[in-house]
Amino acid sequence: METADLLAAAFVDDPLHVWALPGDRDRRLRRLCWLMGALVEALADTCLIDRDEAGVAVWRPPEVSRPLPPGVALRHRLAWAPVRLGIPAVLRLRAAGVDVERRAASDTAGRPHWTLELVATDPGARGRGHGSRLVERGARRAAATGCAVYAVTHNPANLPWFLRRGFRVASVRSLRRGPRVWGLVCEPDL
Ligand SMILES: CC(C)(COP(=O)(O)OP(=O)(O)OC[C@H]1O[C@@H](n2cnc3c(N)ncnc32)[C@H](O)[C@@H]1OP(=O)(O)O)[C@@H](O)C(=O)NCCC(=O)NCCS
Repeated sequence: METADLLAAAFVDDPLHVWALPGDRDRRLRRLCWLMGALVEALADTCLIDRDEAGVAVWRPPEVSRPLPPGVALRHRLAWAPVRLGIPAVLRLRAAGVDVERRAASDTAGRPHWTLELVATDPGARGRGHGSRLVERGARRAAATGCAVYAVTHNPANLPWFLRRGFRVASVRSLRRGPRVWGLVCEPDL
């Protein structure tokens, strides 16, 4: 499965994307497929993309901030997002990105951390340990330099999965008129 298709299939029912791209699910899937392809292409400039045969994890290093600087987005097809997705969707997704950055600073008390931007596995290959291996590999990389791992989820169904992988819930808040967001931290010594 192509990375963009995999991410779109994995996140089509995620509350963040249902909020940002409301309406028909098939249309959301097509738009998400475009968005995920464009996003991964733009993030590849600054993030580490760990892909295996059934999953993908996107890791943002401690020194890279978010949202993407306008210069980075403009160099990529992500610049077409307002046309492809509509301005309301872009504003909602951008609000979610700004929220991650602000929340990470307080949830980690300003300590250096890697951010797990996305982790997803092929819906047909779940429960076989692919997701765990992707997260464990990144957590080891972060721990080797004394860094924590930061992640957020907008889907409460993911919480037990993260908690069983050494994360703790550091914050729970809602986006303005949007879904709840759980901030998750995995300390390097866990
Ligand atoms: C979260 C996610 C990455 C987990 O991937 P995975 O490859 O299924 O992960 P694992 O196989 O390592 O663990 C799956 C868990 O579900 C259990 N499981 C068993 N059968 C399963 C099945 N058919 N489908 C899903 N999970 C199953 C596993 O035993 C394991 O349980 P545990 O937590 O008690 O160990 C995947 O569900 C996903 O892509 N979700 C959508 C995207 C998302 O929300 N990402 C997280 C926020 S960025």
